[in-house]
Amino acid sequence: MSAVASAPHPIEARGLVKRYDQLTAVDHVDLTVEAGTVYGYLGPNGAGKTTSIRMLLGLITPDEGTARLFGRDPLVEGAAALDGVAGFVEAPRFYPYLSARRNLELMAALDGGDAGDRIDDALATVDLTEREDDKVKGYSHGMRQRLGIAAALLRDPRLLLLDEPTTGLDPAGMRDMRQLVRRLAADGITVLLSSHLMTEVEELCDRLAIVRSGRVIYEGGLTDLLRSTGQRYRLRTTDDRRALAVAREQPGVEDPVQRADGLAFAADETVAGELSVALVEAGVAILALVPAAASLEELFFRLTEGDGLPA
Ligand SMILES: Nc1ncnc2c1ncn2[C@@H]1O[C@H](COP(=O)(O)OP(=O)(O)OP(=O)(O)O)[C@@H](O)[C@H]1O
Ligand SMILES: [Mg+2]
Repeated sequence: MSAVASAPHPIEARGLVKRYDQLTAVDHVDLTVEAGTVYGYLGPNGAGKTTSIRMLLGLITPDEGTARLFGRDPLVEGAAALDGVAGFVEAPRFYPYLSARRNLELMAALDGGDAGDRIDDALATVDLTEREDDKVKGYSHGMRQRLGIAAALLRDPRLLLLDEPTTGLDPAGMRDMRQLVRRLAADGITVLLSSHLMTEVEELCDRLAIVRSGRVIYEGGLTDLLRSTGQRYRLRTTDDRRALAVAREQPGVEDPVQRADGLAFAADETVAGELSVALVEAGVAILALVPAAASLEELFFRLTEGDGLPA
C-alpha cells in the first residue's frame, strides 16, 4: 500500500444479497459512491431500493456481501460505523402529538454530543422554523419529509441516505425537496437518493445505478447511458396497427411499440429506410417518420421492463 492511501469512499458495497424466503430482494449489488456526489439509486416498485438502503444503514443484515461506509462496516463496528451518516427509509417517524422542535430535541438527546446545538440550523435549512412549535400530526407529507431531513442533519452528516424523499409530494413539494437536496450537496454532503423517477435522477444526480428485481442493470453516468442507446424513430401512418406488424417483421427494427402519438422503434438509418419501403409495399402510407432522441423516461422503461441494456 502506498503511504498516502486515498480516503475511503462514503459508500462501498460489494456483493450485497438479501433474501426473503424464495425471493431475492437484493441480488449481488455492488455500489461505489464517491465523496461529494449525488448518487441516484433508480428502480421501479419492488426493485429492492429500500432493502438496499436498510442494509447500508445497518438496519438489516445482508445474507451475503459487505457494506462499508467511509471504510467502516456496520456489521463489525456497529453504531460507530454510522458516524457522519444519516438518513431514513420510506417515511421518517415522529411523535405526532409533539411539536417538530420537541421531536428534534428528543432525538438530539438520544444522539448526544452537540446535536442539540444544531436544531435551529436544521429547522431553518428545511424551512420549518415558522412551524417548529406545531404538532407533527398537523404536518403535511412534504413537511414531514423535510422534518426527516432536519432530523438527519442533527447528526452533522457527511453522507445522507434518502429513500424516495419526493414520493407522494405534490409538484411544489417535490421542487422544494429537490432544491433542498441540491443545497445539501452544495454544502459538501454526499447524497445517495433512491427514486423511481428518471427525470428526478436526471435533475439531481451525477451518477446512477438502475436496479431491477434486486440487480443493478446499469451503473454509470447519465451521458454514457444516453449515448449507449440506439437511434429512436417516431412513425405515424395511415394504419398504425398494420405498420406495427410490418415493423415487427422487419430485420434490424428493434423494440417497436405503439404509443398514443404513433409508433416508436429503434433502428439505424438504413433500416429505417428499408422499413419505409416495406410499409409502402404493405399498402401503408407514411404520414411522418422522424428521428427522436430517446427520452430518459422511455429508456428507464426499456431497461426496467425490457430485456436489459440496449445493444
Ligand atoms: N421484510 C420483508 N419480508 C418479505 N419480503 C420483503 C421484505 N422487505 C422487502 N421485501 C420484498 O423485497 C422486494 C424489494 O422490496 P423493497 O421494499 O426493497 O423495494 P423498493 O425498490 O423499495 O420498492 P418501492 O419503490 O415500492 O419502495 C419486494 O418484492 C418486497 O416485497
Ligand atoms: Mg421502497
